[in-house]
Amino acid sequence: MKIKKYLAAGMVCCMILLLFAGCGRKKPEIPVKIQAGIIVYNQSDVFLGELVTCLRQQFEELGSGDLEITVMVRDAAGSQRTQDDQVRELIDMDCNVLCVNLVDRADPSEIIDLARENDVPIIFFNREPVAEDMMQWEKLYYVGADARQSGQMQGELAADAIEADELIDRNRDGKIQYVVLEGEPGHQDAIIRTESAVDTLKSRNISLEKSGTGIANWDRAQAQNRMQQLLSQYPNQIEMVLANNDAMALGAIDAYHKLNYTETALPVFFGIDGTEAGLEAVIDGRLAATVYNDRKGQAQAIAKLAVAAVTGMGMSDIVFENEKYIYLPYQKVTDENVREFLY
Ligand code: GAL
Ligand code: CA
Repeated sequence: MKIKKYLAAGMVCCMILLLFAGCGRKKPEIPVKIQAGIIVYNQSDVFLGELVTCLRQQFEELGSGDLEITVMVRDAAGSQRTQDDQVRELIDMDCNVLCVNLVDRADPSEIIDLARENDVPIIFFNREPVAEDMMQWEKLYYVGADARQSGQMQGELAADAIEADELIDRNRDGKIQYVVLEGEPGHQDAIIRTESAVDTLKSRNISLEKSGTGIANWDRAQAQNRMQQLLSQYPNQIEMVLANNDAMALGAIDAYHKLNYTETALPVFFGIDGTEAGLEAVIDGRLAATVYNDRKGQAQAIAKLAVAAVTGMGMSDIVFENEKYIYLPYQKVTDENVREFLY
């Protein structure tokens, strides 16, 4: 009996000792592993596809030292329900940080609840949630770019081109007949890009006459379709195409080719993004200019922030706007500097 008592007392002492030893030990600063889940609204979107490629590269680079990083990518293929399920799945698979490109930027509540319940920080990117949603939890961040700036730059590039080349005003009526090809309705980059591009042209005293607008949801094939319709309404009358992104500008060019317009009968086309195909088109002169949407810089910021959000490492070096936003600047791309953007 006595022996049992001594044994029990001894065990309690050992446990207390172990407990103290545990408390005294410094917590490891880096968790063993970073498991990043990346979910994209639609991977057939050209810019997003290229951004994800950059993001994989950035994680690979950061993971080559002491950190072990694994990355899992999911494509929501345009469905918010699918995306919500993918968030659940990735959290179940022990992802400890999520990079989310929302399908519906007005509907992130379910994702935010899931992340908060499991204490998994989220970096939203490219499709910006509204400010109230971003306030729901302190571990929500956003990485993107300022839509107004891209529109302004597109407007400036167009104004420069029009001032430099009087032949752009083909019918010599002193006005530029133009069409706009717009991205998804409700996207922060669609309406704002259009408005600020047109306002910038007007502020440069360029007289404009709008022939029409087509919504083509960032997509090349849809833009070709819309442009063919516009051309059947305004054959040979359009002098400039302002597209909210490169894919749609290239779709508009496809429409002219499909309808057998000769090179000399083409209007000037302006895009935004500087995708690989967009940059190629600037090099060979099919696009007059584009605006670089800094996918490399955005990917770098997302990857760094993901590591910081999990480990705390490097968080104090990150410069935020309003504590949780990072906006990378756009840059103008013309045939003069386009080669700087190729890599
Ligand atoms: C924009 C980009 C578009 C499209 C869209 C998707 O920033 O310019 O090409 O990718 O994001 O959300
Ligand atoms: Ca004209």
